[in-house]
Amino acid sequence: MRGEGPKPIHLINVPTLYPEDLMPQLPFHGLRSLSLFSGGGGLDLGFDRAGFTHVASYDILPEAGKTLTQNRPHWTVFAGEAGDVTQINWRSYCGLVDVIHGGPPCQPFSVAGHQKGKADRRDMFSEFVRAVLEIQPLAFVAENVTALLGKKFNSYVEEEIEKPLSETYHLSKFILSAPDFGIPQIRKRVFFVGFKTDKMAKKYQPPQPTHYWESGKDRGPNQAIQLDLFSPREPSQLPRCMGIREALGLPDIGFDALAPTIRSGLTGPRHTTSVLSSVSAQKTWEKLQIWPNGVAANREQAHLFVAKNGHFRLSIADCAMIQGFPESWRIEGVVYMALGQIGNAVPPPLAYRVAESVQVAIQIDIN
Ligand SMILES: C[S@@+](CC[C@H](N)C(=O)[O-])C[C@H]1O[C@@H](n2cnc3c(N)ncnc32)[C@H](O)[C@@H]1O
Repeated sequence: MRGEGPKPIHLINVPTLYPEDLMPQLPFHGLRSLSLFSGGGGLDLGFDRAGFTHVASYDILPEAGKTLTQNRPHWTVFAGEAGDVTQINWRSYCGLVDVIHGGPPCQPFSVAGHQKGKADRRDMFSEFVRAVLEIQPLAFVAENVTALLGKKFNSYVEEEIEKPLSETYHLSKFILSAPDFGIPQIRKRVFFVGFKTDKMAKKYQPPQPTHYWESGKDRGPNQAIQLDLFSPREPSQLPRCMGIREALGLPDIGFDALAPTIRSGLTGPRHTTSVLSSVSAQKTWEKLQIWPNGVAANREQAHLFVAKNGHFRLSIADCAMIQGFPESWRIEGVVYMALGQIGNAVPPPLAYRVAESVQVAIQIDIN
């Protein structure tokens, strides 16, 4: 960094993917959303771009609060102690919220952890359910890792999520895959969506892919559940999802691919500045000639601090883009903290499509 290391070998990259183009701002339609477990704001930003009026965000992490406040100074944000959802009596929000959304911590279910489910003290699904039942919004959206749909958690999903909510809500669940929405990363997430009225639930259509990835290998899983609801267009009719080198604006090396799933800097036993998630991911990063460790604070530092193997070093801005955050959305905190918020997030364009689909179903009933 003082100029004593090897001379830079890569130009400062100029990305060619603009995540904001994947989620054009929709006019505000008057539906109001409340965010729990807001983190760096993936769901919040998606709902915002889909025209929802933000009511408030809650997260226990002070840096998450700073990220949200810095990007949307007019939002009501509760962070740190004030953002601890276990301490909130939600009844004061009755009648003031149309949709509640949230991604409770995924560590209790993630294959990267011990998968203790309910026995993990970080399990917060019951808090999400409590908020929904106390506020009684028109609809809710909960998001998590796909491991939650594994056999191991069958009874958890039934007992902790579906049973208490299905007394008041009509539920559906589906898996979405990030590249199907133009995000150049292998990433799948499960969504639980519930509607207060039968009419909304019947009209509800989960988001359909807006993009395709050339290899076609990542298609399919988002049609795993509710297959009958999808009538996907032929891939050839959809725009192509970029590979990660192309999206980052890196020179053509004759190989490109989707980025492996990026990990959060806050999961695992130690905080980390690496986005590497597995051994197979390492192989893909190598073929891509991208160095997934020691992510730099910005593009200039990534350029100056040459990786040992000469591969392209990522910056926070690059990782945010890989997760679907526009460059204008600033993530607060030191590198591992920013990577924690990025890696934990629902890619905003994915959140946007879910928000849009929920809004359409609600409007059908209201109108
Ligand atoms: C998976 S992340 C959510 C990411 C977010 N949905 C997004 O799209 O960016 C889970 C979040 O839950 C927060 N959290 C954990 N325990 C909490 C609690 N008791 N109260 C409020 N937030 C909590 C964590 O700080 C973390 O930011």
